[in-house]
Amino acid sequence: MTGNESGIPGKFLKPCDTPLERYKVEPFILVIFGGGGDLSRRKLLPTLFHLFREDELSAGFSVLGFGRRQMNDEQYRSMMKEAVREFGEEEFDEAQWNEFSKRVFFHSGHFEDDETYRGLQEKISAISIPTDGGKRNVIYYMSVPPHVTPVAVEKMNQHELCRGRYSTKVIIEKPFGFDLSSAKELNSILTDAFEESRIYRIDHYLGKETVQNIMFFRFSNAVFERLWNSKYIDHVQITVAEDIGIEERGAFYEQNGVVRDIVQNHVMQLMALVAMEPPIGFEADFIRDEKGKVFRALRPMDDEYIDRFTVRSQYGPGPVRGVDVPGYRAEKGVSPDSATPTFFAGKFYVANWRWAGVPFYVRTGKRLARHVTEICIQFKQPPLRLFGRTCDVLEPNILALTIQPDERISLRFGVKYPHVINRIYPAEMVFSYQNTFKTKSHPAYERLLIDCMKGDLTLFVRQDGVEAIWEALDPLLARWESMPPRDFPNYPSGSWGPVEADLLLQRDGRSWLTV
Ligand code: BG6
Repeated sequence: MTGNESGIPGKFLKPCDTPLERYKVEPFILVIFGGGGDLSRRKLLPTLFHLFREDELSAGFSVLGFGRRQMNDEQYRSMMKEAVREFGEEEFDEAQWNEFSKRVFFHSGHFEDDETYRGLQEKISAISIPTDGGKRNVIYYMSVPPHVTPVAVEKMNQHELCRGRYSTKVIIEKPFGFDLSSAKELNSILTDAFEESRIYRIDHYLGKETVQNIMFFRFSNAVFERLWNSKYIDHVQITVAEDIGIEERGAFYEQNGVVRDIVQNHVMQLMALVAMEPPIGFEADFIRDEKGKVFRALRPMDDEYIDRFTVRSQYGPGPVRGVDVPGYRAEKGVSPDSATPTFFAGKFYVANWRWAGVPFYVRTGKRLARHVTEICIQFKQPPLRLFGRTCDVLEPNILALTIQPDERISLRFGVKYPHVINRIYPAEMVFSYQNTFKTKSHPAYERLLIDCMKGDLTLFVRQDGVEAIWEALDPLLARWESMPPRDFPNYPSGSWGPVEADLLLQRDGRSWLTV
């Protein structure tokens, strides 16, 4: 930990430059359902190209995009070349791209059409390179709208693309279902087609270095874990704020809204990492067991609770970083009288021994004042005010785990202000990833793709956890859907959301710490 904001290493620690571990990956083919879509362009192909450049892929890899668009391999390659140029994090390298793109292919077809799957099977067999043992590793990536996934998996199963012919894995993008019953239905289709150990439910937040660090920070230090309970913690805040709008995803967002897009997955995963008990080991299922217990302990919300302790909102027009942007209802693909919420705030309780009575305040939204994901843990006041009237109001100790865009952990604590009178000054101790490590954090998709290739499920979500979260959130969604909002849009773009989100904390004598 550095002793100050400047990031100059402290006495004991030097910037660390540990070489990255390398894994031997077997030959595989990645078949991307929705291969021409937004995720492929923005994340998957740029990530794969980066891994190729870093020599992290096996020599025998290939990528097969699969989608409705009529395209041949060459057209797909040039579309992805543009995408990698635009969204890749490093300078584009033409020669390396030419090498990489030889292994990139496309298969056009409709996801409901049997003929398409026969063609897909032929293409996989023609392109994929078998391992030394003669098997073909196939990873399917379902980057399609949620209602398409069950249809496509059923078809794959019928055409024997799941078990038997190849050694397969499947990566499923969130949202995992639309509510509890559709999540169960999706799962039964998935487990019919694949072994549970072959299903990788991806939540890219779990691939973020700073998110993974929550567990390491908690369980590798003796100092904090002792205080990590209702005796010492006053409350927890989780903010996932985005300054961007819904971009080109109007249709998707209209169907899902903020709770299905962010709360059901990213926010709940962050909450679980803060609230979970220490797992009995670092294996995937031990960790997923503990996270599942957190979800199952979420205090059920009835209508009265929902009306009092949750806030839904939608952004109107306003200035974001000096640029006027349109409101949600004016976005492409959005209904002019849409009731879809783009902002959520709420108070949750994890009703177990450790957390009884400790509120977890959550806030997330699009088109907010800035892009920041942060968890703040506010500690209780010391038992006695020792220092006289000038110290009547003590600033609480706050531990802030900042996930992005800064990657840091800070601890606020009181020190004596240098003067003759007694006064406490809130000082801060900061650890910054950037200043401590020369090695850059792996982008989330990079880590998760490698883990899937290696067969490591630790950072993927398990079905019982998914269902427990839906069970907690279904009443909220049902309540909102039965009572259309009357005041949308109700926060201007570029703000911190509606005033009700502030009141939610003010009524408890608290305020949002991330500003
Ligand atoms: C995705 C959501 O899962 O996460 C998007 O669908 C959101 O709406 C994105 O913008 C945020 O991810 P990140 O990594 O930019 O915080």
